[in-house]
Amino acid sequence: MNSPSPLLEGPGLFDFTAKLAHEIRNPLATIDLSLELMLAERKDDDLKTYMDIIRHSADKINELVNDLIKNRSIVEAQVANQSLHHLLDEVIEMAKDRIMLKNIMVCKEYDPTDCIVALNRPKMKIALTNIIVNAIEAMEAQLGELKLVTMPIAGKYVVQIEDNGCGISEKNLKNIFHANYTNKPGGLGIGLASTYDILTANNVKVHVESQEGSGTHFFLLFDNN
Ligand SMILES: Nc1ncnc2c1ncn2[C@@H]1O[C@H](COP(=O)(O)OP(=O)(O)O)[C@@H](O)[C@H]1O
Ligand SMILES: [Mg+2]
Repeated sequence: MNSPSPLLEGPGLFDFTAKLAHEIRNPLATIDLSLELMLAERKDDDLKTYMDIIRHSADKINELVNDLIKNRSIVEAQVANQSLHHLLDEVIEMAKDRIMLKNIMVCKEYDPTDCIVALNRPKMKIALTNIIVNAIEAMEAQLGELKLVTMPIAGKYVVQIEDNGCGISEKNLKNIFHANYTNKPGGLGIGLASTYDILTANNVKVHVESQEGSGTHFFLLFDNN
């Protein structure tokens, strides 16, 4: 498939990450403080849901930034046996605010047997989140259906992540794993390039099928149990 992301590799990465993480903390602290003041001043409930979402999201960024600064979890996590179902549930939980804001239906069709595979958990969470966030972004509010399917095939596990979003043209499909490829205004085109690197490092094969106007299916073959 396509080449790995040069943006996410190289000796300067940790320096860059640490500096970026420090810089993010300042505006984040301002967001936190402003939110606290807003919540204290507002007595009515009408915007509370949205304020709570902003707060959860700011807390999440804070957690990620702290992890990066301490250089732990993502860097140090070892490969260990993981339940694919728990992993998928956790990723859906992390994306629940976006799912709720777009009123997207989530349908889980998990195999009755839990799928246990050897993985780097924090990294695989990032990879699955990138795929699922793209799916959420591709779908129309109120009409979106996100389907997660797991099934064993010949001693291996397949995870399918399906959306009924805008789909991808045949020409663009060739580029989705390339660093910097994006067709979104304000998009970075880093998510799937990093996902591809993580999947490859964890022996997960990826195949994507898509049809413009109908939706996109990601097939992940976990080969490492
Ligand atoms: N589920 C999907 N439905 C439609 N397009 C998708 C989907 N997943 C990825 N893409 C396409 O792949 C591109 C690259 O995705 P990504 O690397 O995550 O970058 P970004 O989300 O910043 O654009 C997206 O801009 C989009 O065009
Ligand atoms: Mg993305």
